[in-house]
Amino acid sequence: MSQSPSTSPSAVTTRDFLAMKKAGKRIVAVTAYDALFGRLVDEAGVDCALVGDSLNQVLCGEPSTLSATLEQMIYHGRAVRRGVQRALLVIDMPFLSYQVSREEAVRNCGRVMKETGAQAVKLEGGAAMVETIRALVEIGIPVMGHIGLTPQSVHALGGYRVQGRDDETAQRLEADAQALEEAGCFAIVLELVPAAVAERISRSLTIPTIGIGAGARCDGQVLVLHDLLGLNDAFAPKFLKRFANLADEVRRAVGAFAGEVRGGTYPGPEHSF
Ligand code: KIV
Repeated sequence: MSQSPSTSPSAVTTRDFLAMKKAGKRIVAVTAYDALFGRLVDEAGVDCALVGDSLNQVLCGEPSTLSATLEQMIYHGRAVRRGVQRALLVIDMPFLSYQVSREEAVRNCGRVMKETGAQAVKLEGGAAMVETIRALVEIGIPVMGHIGLTPQSVHALGGYRVQGRDDETAQRLEADAQALEEAGCFAIVLELVPAAVAERISRSLTIPTIGIGAGARCDGQVLVLHDLLGLNDAFAPKFLKRFANLADEVRRAVGAFAGEVRGGTYPGPEHSF
């Protein structure tokens, strides 16, 4: 991997993403919202740690990502930066921080880069975002695109549903992906897209696609860390595979602690001074 100025000598860069696609190496991305999980996912060897605006739902219990703020993303971005040495650190731009005008987008994305030490930002939207993305890329801010189910547009889309199921909407997604590549994105998240559509898009681009609920033929995959760890056991969409059941483990461990405190067996002499 080539060198990044802000992290370790072997840190992943946006250029490595392109090289990985060329070499047919699948890209692994997960969300991280704090320094501890940032360090753990980095030690696990992921290629990308994404500070997703999903933190507004997962950590804060909000019904959507819409109310996430720039300050919140910067706060969590700085925390994750302290844990991540090798993975490419990407920060989600929250709703209304980049849509109002190109000037505001440049200022807000610039703030995120300056104040968090991230290597890239992620924005939702297709053709409508092209001029903004061009402006960011021109001043040296790498941009990851995000199309398909774009959670910041959940109300316009009528819910968290698969996008591109018919020919017309599939063609629009393909055109959006092309437009984002031409605008200078270094990668694109495809969320909740039929596998065949995601495969066509992935084959048509030179930049990598990172899928979530978009089948096996994307150039990489991303999941929300708390979902793949089984911490968020109320959330069970079809695309999700839980690689652990930590919610059960947390309940068991905290229950055991409570039992020992109530029973007077913790702390024992070995835990006392
Ligand atoms: O906010 C987020 O966590 C995301 C990923 C699910 C791609 O955008």
